[in-house]
Amino acid sequence: MLAQRDCLAAAAGQIQDLEGVVLELGLGNGRSYDHLRELLPQRDIYVFDRRVASHPDCVPEDRFLFLGEILETLPKANAQLGRGAVLAHCDFGSGRAGHDADVARQLALELTPLIVAGGVVVSDQQLASNQLKPMPLPDGVPLDRYFMYTAV
Ligand SMILES: C[S@@+](CC[C@H](N)C(=O)[O-])C[C@H]1O[C@@H](n2cnc3c(N)ncnc32)[C@H](O)[C@@H]1O
Repeated sequence: MLAQRDCLAAAAGQIQDLEGVVLELGLGNGRSYDHLRELLPQRDIYVFDRRVASHPDCVPEDRFLFLGEILETLPKANAQLGRGAVLAHCDFGSGRAGHDADVARQLALELTPLIVAGGVVVSDQQLASNQLKPMPLPDGVPLDRYFMYTAV
């Protein structure tokens, strides 16, 4: 959780001069969504999950929700938002390594067209894409605990 917070804070600094929205992939109980709202109060935050099961204080407005399988809703988000996101936070890990790696492989392809050049992707899973360049992690974040990329 500390690693996630440090990475999101670093990403918020990195994108401060870019215009665009934020994507939260994996609402869960809404903890990191809440943190993003605090860090980036001026940004629209679009949220992806199969369903809303977050703390009642952390429920996004319907217009900011993409509900369903991420790999199906990302193309819909692309059609709606285009290349308009400055930050994506991916937190969809299930703890099943093989499954998560499969999703991450496909997700990287669907996600990158939404990220503006210079935008940042913070992820709980390693992502592989020619359009995503690995970034150094904040001090104290262990390698392979969290991942950060900048879009080219
Ligand atoms: C680890 S939790 C997210 C925790 C959240 N970021 C927080 O801080 O409270 C992972 C979430 O990702 C969602 N998820 C995982 N795989 C998904 C998929 N393929 N499509 C849609 N949602 C998915 C799960 O439903 C779950 O709510």
